[in-house]
Amino acid sequence: MDTIAAITGRQSIRAFDADRPVSDEQIRSLLAVAGRAPSGSNIQPWQIFVVRGQRKQHITDACSERYLSGDEGVAEYHYYPQHWRAPYIDRRRETGFGLYGLLGIERRDAAAVQAYRVQNYQFFGAPVALFFTIDRDMELGSWLDYGMFLQSLMVAARADGLETCPQAAFCPYYDSVMPLLNAPDEQMLVCAISLGYAQPDALINSYRTGRLAVDEFTTFL
Ligand SMILES: Cc1cc2nc3c(=O)[nH]c(=O)nc-3n(C[C@H](O)[C@H](O)[C@H](O)COP(=O)(O)O)c2cc1C
Repeated sequence: MDTIAAITGRQSIRAFDADRPVSDEQIRSLLAVAGRAPSGSNIQPWQIFVVRGQRKQHITDACSERYLSGDEGVAEYHYYPQHWRAPYIDRRRETGFGLYGLLGIERRDAAAVQAYRVQNYQFFGAPVALFFTIDRDMELGSWLDYGMFLQSLMVAARADGLETCPQAAFCPYYDSVMPLLNAPDEQMLVCAISLGYAQPDALINSYRTGRLAVDEFTTFL
């Protein structure tokens, strides 16, 4: 696949074909490609857990139950700013409202919002869940490296017809997820990625987010 098309055509997929499996071989070769991502001094700070079948179901059950009971959990790191402000809050709202608008979900309809959001914990129907962890004593630079690994993985998946949804939604429930992964105590949860084949006709997968124009975030000096 053309590199530019692979990057620009990537989007977060939120309806996967649950019946179309992804083989170990596919996952291994994908991780080998992503593993070519650069990292400072080549320290490669990533650790990946590939989860399917019953173990994935256990994670779904544990996180769904907590989410539906109103337990918001507490993540080990702040993914978002502690104090939302313009322009970020506006961009966040635009993304959320756009998706809810497409799905016909009223923001004030708590039950509908909940029914949508809980799908995060079902991996949006994906047959494969990838969990990404990092040693807790790694510094910010390693998180920068990690982002490169994750984007490489998501773009490379497309060459094989696969699609992804990156998910921070599991982070507040890391204390349920990490034991189910048998992850060592010294590691923390970075995020998850749902992986599989997209349901091509699903309305939710037609949602395309906008982006700033280059001149809005670039200064040519
Ligand atoms: C690290 C990370 C975590 C994310 N967490 C979630 C999530 O928990 N649930 C979700 O539906 N989307 C999640 N997203 C997807 C973003 O909402 C999405 O990337 C953004 O709106 C841009 O849309 P696009 O990916 O379709 O280009 C996450 C994205 C990233 C990079």
